[in-house]
Amino acid sequence: MARRNKIYEGKAKILYEGPEPGTIVQYFKDDATAFNAEKKDVIDGKGVLNNMLSEYFMKGLTQIGVPNHFIKRLNMREQLCKSCEIVPLEIIVRNYAAGTMSTRLGIDEGTQLPRPIVEYCYKDDSLGDPLVSEEHIAAFGWASQQDMEDILSLALRVNDFMSGVMFAVGIKLVDFKIEVGRVYDGDFQRLIVADEISPDSCRLWDMETGRKLDKDVFRRDLGSLSDAYTEVANRLGVMPKTSTTPTKPTLVN
Ligand code: C5P
Repeated sequence: MARRNKIYEGKAKILYEGPEPGTIVQYFKDDATAFNAEKKDVIDGKGVLNNMLSEYFMKGLTQIGVPNHFIKRLNMREQLCKSCEIVPLEIIVRNYAAGTMSTRLGIDEGTQLPRPIVEYCYKDDSLGDPLVSEEHIAAFGWASQQDMEDILSLALRVNDFMSGVMFAVGIKLVDFKIEVGRVYDGDFQRLIVADEISPDSCRLWDMETGRKLDKDVFRRDLGSLSDAYTEVANRLGVMPKTSTTPTKPTLVN
């Protein structure tokens, strides 16, 4: 059987042409990278976990009316998505200071922010995805004023949804990154959440112990990344619990 046409290979995913026009297949790899790919490893099962988790979050967003690219999961590593034109921005929402915000502004990690803060980075690996202002975005035509209003609204809705979902399982949503894409209905254009939402792109801390359950485990050598992601998946009921009693398997479809 002919192999699907590869559209793009990124650090953690491969995109293939989908079976219908306007669709793509997103394949989740086990590769982990950090610091703009200066640190690399292969983490057995990471792709499966991120595929399942991203499916769970995107389906939840669909349920509450936040448009996104997810159509259906095809298998353990692949999902069918709407194809879209990615806006060249990484949209970061922060509830607590951490990571580059702490370094940049000298705020202790874990400090609660007075309100969610949204930041934009220009998506360009060769430049290390630099932080940009709305002035840059408008001046260079990466997104219009209307796009920026829609992006802000999407980002804050995703934040409320993800914060609530995580709170319910004892996890604090410190920050996360999303990407958005344009889809066209005739002349009409709208923005949807694209790419993935997973522990690769969020900071997730256990509320009781502060244990990190996200990619910082890999970035900072804090132990097993797959254990951390499995913990998130188990708490959300996304993966079957590692139980030997096969009484009530969790069916994921
Ligand atoms: O590194 P920084 O503190 O700016 O990251 C903020 C949030 O955005 C973190 O949750 C991180 O995982 C995510 N992020 C990402 N991809 C990037 C940069 C940041 O998923 N290229």
